[in-house]
Amino acid sequence: MFVVSKVAAEHKTYEEAKAGIDETLEKMELDYLDMMIIHSPQPWAEVNQSENRYKEGNRQAWKALEDAYNEGKLKAIGVSNFQIENLESLMETAKIKPMVNQVLCHISNTPTELIEFCQKSNIAVEAYSPIAHGVILNQPEIQTMAEKYGVSVPQLCIRYTLQLGAISLPKTANPEHMKTNAEVDFEISAEDMEMLKNFKEIADYGESSGFPVYGGKL
Ligand SMILES: NC(=O)c1ccc[n+]([C@@H]2O[C@H](COP(=O)([O-])OP(=O)(O)OC[C@H]3O[C@@H](n4cnc5c(N)ncnc54)[C@H](OP(=O)(O)O)[C@@H]3O)[C@@H](O)[C@H]2O)c1
Repeated sequence: MFVVSKVAAEHKTYEEAKAGIDETLEKMELDYLDMMIIHSPQPWAEVNQSENRYKEGNRQAWKALEDAYNEGKLKAIGVSNFQIENLESLMETAKIKPMVNQVLCHISNTPTELIEFCQKSNIAVEAYSPIAHGVILNQPEIQTMAEKYGVSVPQLCIRYTLQLGAISLPKTANPEHMKTNAEVDFEISAEDMEMLKNFKEIADYGESSGFPVYGGKL
């Protein structure tokens, strides 16, 4: 088991972030967490709405994470939904570099430049919603490619993110899906990887389209 939590997107002062970390440990009745990450560079109400990237606020929240890490309360620290500019500005003053960036990444929505930047900077990329929050399941071209490899669409999607060099974070409430989602020991060809990287963007996440993370600008 690997226990992870997040500094709330709204916590952009040292004091707020520190209080959030301590409150999480207290509520979970744990002495330490395996990892904690800043959920978003902007408070949710401003995502896709404002140009303010909270340079100073993120530095303050990061300092609270660094201190908690140095005190042994957190075993790893990172960020989520950070773009290159957010990472660069954080790293200008950080004493500890972010260890992880957890980002939206799936077939049809692959942040190639960001992934390359993270990999060059030794920041592990975690791909969240690797099955596109479920909305990729009915795409005929993706179904055809999955059939070619003798796998399911979720298996193709998860394998795709692994071959990008990311850590894949699929979610399921179904134990059978959980089992088959882990069976991804096959190889997508370089040619098919290119096709999947350039697959037409799926901009409609159904009922979840209203959530800031699926709004397109994070
Ligand atoms: N950092 C962030 O801002 C952020 C934002 C969003 C999400 N996340 C994280 O990313 C993780 C995944 O997010 P997500 O829910 O969007 O993920 P996802 O893994 O892309 O999609 C989950 C959907 O796929 C279905 N599914 C999974 N395996 C399947 C299978 N083998 N066959 C058929 N359907 C399958 C699930 O239904 P069943 O339950 O029926 O299998 C569910 O509807 C979550 O743990 C979440 O914490 C992080």
